[in-house]
Amino acid sequence: MKRSRINALLRDAIGFFETHHFHLPPFAHWTPDAWPEDRDRIRDILDHGLGWDVTDFGQGRFDELGLLLFTLRNGSEDGKGGVPYAEKAMIVNIGQVTPTHYHWSKIEDIINRGGGTLKIKLYASDAQDELSDSLVHFVADGVRYTEPAGHVFSLAPGESITLTPNLYHSFWAEGERVLAGEVSSVNDDLTDNRFHGLVGRFPDVEEDEPPIRLLVSDYERWLNA
Ligand SMILES: [Fe+2]
Repeated sequence: MKRSRINALLRDAIGFFETHHFHLPPFAHWTPDAWPEDRDRIRDILDHGLGWDVTDFGQGRFDELGLLLFTLRNGSEDGKGGVPYAEKAMIVNIGQVTPTHYHWSKIEDIINRGGGTLKIKLYASDAQDELSDSLVHFVADGVRYTEPAGHVFSLAPGESITLTPNLYHSFWAEGERVLAGEVSSVNDDLTDNRFHGLVGRFPDVEEDEPPIRLLVSDYERWLNA
């Protein structure tokens, strides 16, 4: 993705969060030159991937296959530093799909915090890690469901679903774009995502202008962290 596109998406996202009165923590607003020099003080941000994340899943079609996220809190699976939970805020556009994946260990609640309808398509995984045609079982807002493979569950604002490990899911918005929340056990995007099909997690960035904010995937290069 071009940096100019990422910058435009971030400007738009900051406005969208404000519109929904969803206020982000201070580090969301640090420009690249405002990051504290003392990297040790911000170890929890750097080590656990807190902050902005824009991805086209490596496919170069952000409008159809993409997601913009902000990770507010997170820890590590081995318990070394950080907290044993994670929280994200996500902006899901109409018809913009987060491709089918599951997590080996993370259990996550996906929450519609406002906007249109969040649609989530569900499959169990089989012994070969493929999409299973067996029934899917899940809990949404305290109610248990059993549905056929490929069921599309709808979340209106305020509603949520609990996604357990090995349960394949993809999602997109209908009607209006959605401010989605994620509350989960710790999140490791480098090791815990099992995508169905060839999909990358982070975008290739073409630097055509300076970044207005750093993405989590920029920390290593821009902050030598
Ligand atoms: Fe997920």
